[in-house]
Amino acid sequence: MTAMVKAEGVHKSFGAVQVLKGIDLEVAPREVFCLIGPSGSGKSTFLRCINHLEKVNAGRLYVDGDLVGYRQQGNKLHELRDREVAAQRRDIGMVFQRFNLFPHMTAVENVMEAPVHVKRESKAVARERALRLLDRVGLADKAGSYPAQLSGGQQQRVAIARALAMEPKLMLFDEPTSALDPELVGDVLDVMRDLAESGMTMIVVTHEMGFAREVGDALVFMDDGTVVETGHPRDVLTNPQRERTKSFLSKVL
Ligand SMILES: Nc1ncnc2c1ncn2[C@@H]1O[C@H](COP(=O)(O)OP(=O)(O)OP(=O)(O)O)[C@@H](O)[C@H]1O
Ligand SMILES: [Mg+2]
Repeated sequence: MTAMVKAEGVHKSFGAVQVLKGIDLEVAPREVFCLIGPSGSGKSTFLRCINHLEKVNAGRLYVDGDLVGYRQQGNKLHELRDREVAAQRRDIGMVFQRFNLFPHMTAVENVMEAPVHVKRESKAVARERALRLLDRVGLADKAGSYPAQLSGGQQQRVAIARALAMEPKLMLFDEPTSALDPELVGDVLDVMRDLAESGMTMIVVTHEMGFAREVGDALVFMDDGTVVETGHPRDVLTNPQRERTKSFLSKVL
């Protein structure tokens, strides 16, 4: 079976600062893969490398068997053109800590935007799907609302619907609940749980250890640009093997 994401010796530096120091990991299709680690350990950078928002300096990343950002000819790598990178990225949905909805568009318009402008889909088809997705994230009654009229949790659910509108094969979440008031976190996690149950492959950077334990299939603890420990979330969270993992978990659990 082809891995949905495969990282082989991924290195990334910003100037002299080495941020990723050789990441190896594999995410299977339909897997919910949780990524935890201290601030600055390289979690966001790794996610950004997966959809080629950052270029790796060494190593390789594959999404669904395709090399990210490059084409291999013989043993040489050629960088893909912007258009080709955009085509790869289209299959990957990304949800950030901040929702970045278009403020001048209603919820349904936000969700329709990419299918209409990127995929050149008809507005009627895009609207129908957008309304279905808003219903799925529990916001059927907010289709006509502007972002400023929605709570943070509602905006984040619109952002998830917007990512799903492109029918991605992989979803990346970068601390999707950490900017939310505590009472709004649950609704967003419920939507993510539902998405996991539907079989979506997800990589989730999170501080929500409860979510990782209940929904995650795998958990990676990253520190200082390396994978320190990986395993089933229950095992890593209740019986960490490495001192570094123990000390991190003792601070966050
Ligand atoms: N564009 C950039 N230019 C220079 N340094 C960067 C850039 N992006 C990230 N870094 C540095 O890379 C390191 C890893 O950052 P990253 O955002 O990946 O960490 P993180 O694990 O997501 O942390 P957090 O939990 O705080 O979100 C940090 O030291 C950061 O300052
Ligand atoms: Mg981050």
